[in-house]
Amino acid sequence: MTDREVGIDALSVYIPHFYLDLKDMAQANGVDPDKYYVGLGGKHMAILPPDEDPVTMAAEAAKALVESWNIDKKSIGMVIVGTESSVDGAKPIASFVHGLLGLPTECRVFDAQHACYGATAGLTMALNWCATRDKKALIIATDVARYDVRSAGEPTQGAGAVAMVISSNPSLLKIRQDIDAAYSNHVFDFFRPLYRSTAVVDGKFSLECYLTALECTYERFKKQTGLNLSDLDFLLFHVPFPKMAYKAFARLYEIESKERSLPPLSDIFEDMTGCALWANREVGNIYSGSLYLALAGLLETPNINPATKKVGMFSYGSGCCAEFLLGEFKGDQTRWKGKTGLIGHLSKRVKISYEEYIKIREAYEGKIPLNTLSLGNGSYYKYCGIIEHKRIYDNSSSDAPPMST
Ligand code: HMG
Repeated sequence: MTDREVGIDALSVYIPHFYLDLKDMAQANGVDPDKYYVGLGGKHMAILPPDEDPVTMAAEAAKALVESWNIDKKSIGMVIVGTESSVDGAKPIASFVHGLLGLPTECRVFDAQHACYGATAGLTMALNWCATRDKKALIIATDVARYDVRSAGEPTQGAGAVAMVISSNPSLLKIRQDIDAAYSNHVFDFFRPLYRSTAVVDGKFSLECYLTALECTYERFKKQTGLNLSDLDFLLFHVPFPKMAYKAFARLYEIESKERSLPPLSDIFEDMTGCALWANREVGNIYSGSLYLALAGLLETPNINPATKKVGMFSYGSGCCAEFLLGEFKGDQTRWKGKTGLIGHLSKRVKISYEEYIKIREAYEGKIPLNTLSLGNGSYYKYCGIIEHKRIYDNSSSDAPPMST
């Protein structure tokens, strides 16, 4: 470890072009819409069309990042993709992205997998790596959350990617390297056997596992830093559904209020966590990227400039592995307003019906041909199908070979 500051230098979000209103899903499932809107705290859910996949989403986020913030591609010496939505048993998504972006050959390129913790695993490795060199690391979280139709998890689906540049002297968020507040436990709360496209989940148990991991990492964080909830300005969580962030915050509030007097729960929650959750409410769970989507939400929230403020960040991946990170925002952060990609993608989205959502699912699973769907979502990269066992991608849809799912 060195005394160099390391952390997030830039960030960019990609959200698919289509969304479903949870009210329409509630109606189809015969459920009161308030169960999804209020009980889970969601509103809309990003839907990935079948000519996009975790590779194209990762490449879109990374391309926007490199172009918007003038990142010199030659400065990137490591690409790590955090994902639980692999497209190949051997070749990592990072390798496809490295090729699609034309990154230098002098580069380490691999995926990091542990459910929703994957991107954080990549991030912490990149922080150590950047502490001793002037190169930058590209960390991308990309995932599609899929549960069975009409299952309890279905209203918590989503899709999206968040790309981040990690470097020394970061201009966005300095992350403390001397804290090791991690936790792991071998549990079957949520998993996806290789023969399934949807997750198997023990919903109520997964909530318990998440909260136990939170308590353990928070205790370790407190012991190592001497800091507690009152010393933080913001507290961001992994957000499988927005109400989970409330449950998590309430758990820490309960612990802390035994030791010190705190403002009312609803006020302090809104100021520290709730203010950032609007993005997660629009997109749904994007697994490895959900925590970083909340970070983008915070940066894009009107009237909030988190400059020089402290943020706690709780990352949780089922299975399970968790970590509590501490960040400190650098100088003026108003430059992020309208620049993370979040507002741009959300403002151009198209609402689809429940029936179209079901068709898209069927096309993705190869049950119906693609040409029964009208696509044309304006994304730069397209997934074109598999030819001679190789996944083919293109950046000009007119020349793309025909899709064969
Ligand atoms: P459920 O069966 O819908 O649960 O499953 P419920 O019946 O308890 O209802 C949920 C809430 O809605 C309750 O509120 C109800 O009271 C309320 P709560 O008591 O929790 O505060 N409710 C209503 N509110 C208003 N109006 C109404 C109404 N009706 C009911 N009419 C569950 C919920 C989260 C279990 C399910 O969605 C699920 O299985 N989700 C997937 C698993 C998950 O997200 N787990 C979270 C922790 S694990 C994690 O975060 C990792 C993960 O991201 C994966 C990874 O790491 O890769 C998932």
